[in-house]
Amino acid sequence: MCASGAGLHPPLIIYGRVSSVSAYIFLRWVANMEIELQHIHKRFGRVHANNDISLKLHGGRIIGVLGENGAGKSTLMKILSGYQPADSGSILIDGQKAGYHGPQAAIAAGVGMLQQDPLDVPAFTVLENFLYGQPASMTRRAARSDLAKISHEFGFHLDPETPAARISIGQRQQLEIVRLLTLGVRTLILDEPTTGISAQQKTILFDALQALARDQGMTVLLVSHKLEDVIALCDEVVVLRAGCLVGERAMPATKAELVRLMFGQDIAPQERSAGSLGEIVLKLDSLTIQDRRVRVETLSLDVREGEVIGLAGLDGSGQEALMRACVGLTPVVGGNVVLKDRDLTRRSYRERMRAGLAFSAAGRLEEGLVAGLTLTEHMALMDSERTMIDWPGVRDITRRQIERYNVRGRAEDRIEMLSGGNQQRWLMALLPEQPRVMILEQPTRGLDVDSARWVWQLLLDRRAHGTAIIFNSPDLDEIVTYSDRIIVFFAGRFHLIEDASTATVEVLGHLIGGNFEEAAR
Ligand SMILES: Nc1ncnc2c1ncn2[C@@H]1O[C@H](COP(=O)(O)OP(=O)(O)OP(=O)(O)O)[C@@H](O)[C@H]1O
Ligand SMILES: [Mg+2]
Repeated sequence: MCASGAGLHPPLIIYGRVSSVSAYIFLRWVANMEIELQHIHKRFGRVHANNDISLKLHGGRIIGVLGENGAGKSTLMKILSGYQPADSGSILIDGQKAGYHGPQAAIAAGVGMLQQDPLDVPAFTVLENFLYGQPASMTRRAARSDLAKISHEFGFHLDPETPAARISIGQRQQLEIVRLLTLGVRTLILDEPTTGISAQQKTILFDALQALARDQGMTVLLVSHKLEDVIALCDEVVVLRAGCLVGERAMPATKAELVRLMFGQDIAPQERSAGSLGEIVLKLDSLTIQDRRVRVETLSLDVREGEVIGLAGLDGSGQEALMRACVGLTPVVGGNVVLKDRDLTRRSYRERMRAGLAFSAAGRLEEGLVAGLTLTEHMALMDSERTMIDWPGVRDITRRQIERYNVRGRAEDRIEMLSGGNQQRWLMALLPEQPRVMILEQPTRGLDVDSARWVWQLLLDRRAHGTAIIFNSPDLDEIVTYSDRIIVFFAGRFHLIEDASTATVEVLGHLIGGNFEEAAR
């Protein structure tokens, strides 16, 4: 049973469906939309993902949806936006029961959701994607003009003729927002929208959300583990725990207060901890790397046992290229990668893993994990040396790792049945126990504050046993807290901070904008 949460605000009114920019502009004068969730239940087998959730959501406000990993946030948002049905309960829009099934019907009723990875068609141009779902009467010319008008209004940069595959995640989000707005959406749901976008794009996104809520009366629901973002943006928060609604409050609130609401207790911020360094384990010798987005020239670095190197930079500035060059996923144009006197530069990914490197990719379901496979099957895949699988043995390890990594899921669950944060835990659980060097793209992506801290405790424990760690993160605080040395990248250029204890988030923020000369003075 859950303790119930009460609605906060007075009801608001009317709503009209639109399908073009003029109607979108007209909507500014239409009164705000009110949504009421009544007794929403959703079970997945034995998991009660949403347990009797009742909630009132009022237009003109940005509402943060908080909760630990697996609390039920994405499930509730998917129900509201028509991506999955509730087992029972009702959704009322402006006092009327909304019986929609499917996301298109939800959009028609005024509710649209921006998925974490936007659902555009990569081969289509920006304009073609924008046209998707618009009325057949809309000409390309009208679409182009609408796209330009709304983009301009929010400071979005969208070139209509560029294929969606070639624009950044931030721009794909912008495209989806513009599309949903012209389709008449009055409630916009964003599930962890700031993972994978640059700081500038985050500012543009937040300004747009604020304008939509304040000036145009839209309801914005923001699911996020980044409490700084929630504090900067939200007017109120709702908190879920183990499927139940356990709190609602108006903002402002401090980070500590939000943490207490989410976890029922305080969580002390992690202290910096320096490890003791051993021999040189990884030598990067005058590496020149070229990937699709960036070229990094002649980077040299000696990494010692037990050392943590944090890589900072806007998306695509060189940090991902460096990590992938180390493991053989990005081509090296010049220089060498040497692990303990063994030159791995021309070696395959597999050979590098065998030699003592370990890698985990930021794109969980695109690269790191395989949708459709169970946790046990993932574990079986890790032992690629054998031609026979020792299933009882693999099941045993799987169960142990589930327990050790506190994964909310069962050995026989398919990976996509786990919540985002629990998928991330499983990705970590699959890494070898004590490699020489771990190369980790965004190791705490999508983790709640408590889980992120806990993952770092595990990593620091491995460091204490001599493993070196190279990682990147969009969270500068994480880089400052856990690194011994930091490399900041900007458009392929780099700047090494020899002693991370002298770095601050402000300095890093400055550097990732490319102000290297100023920092050197
Ligand atoms: N399709 C599914 N099949 C089975 N179980 C599911 C499915 N979707 C979600 N669940 C389970 O429902 C619970 C809530 O998951 P949900 O994704 O809503 O959590 P969340 O609050 O979004 O977590 P996170 O912060 O980690 O993203 C989890 O235990 C998850 O494993
Ligand atoms: Mg989620």
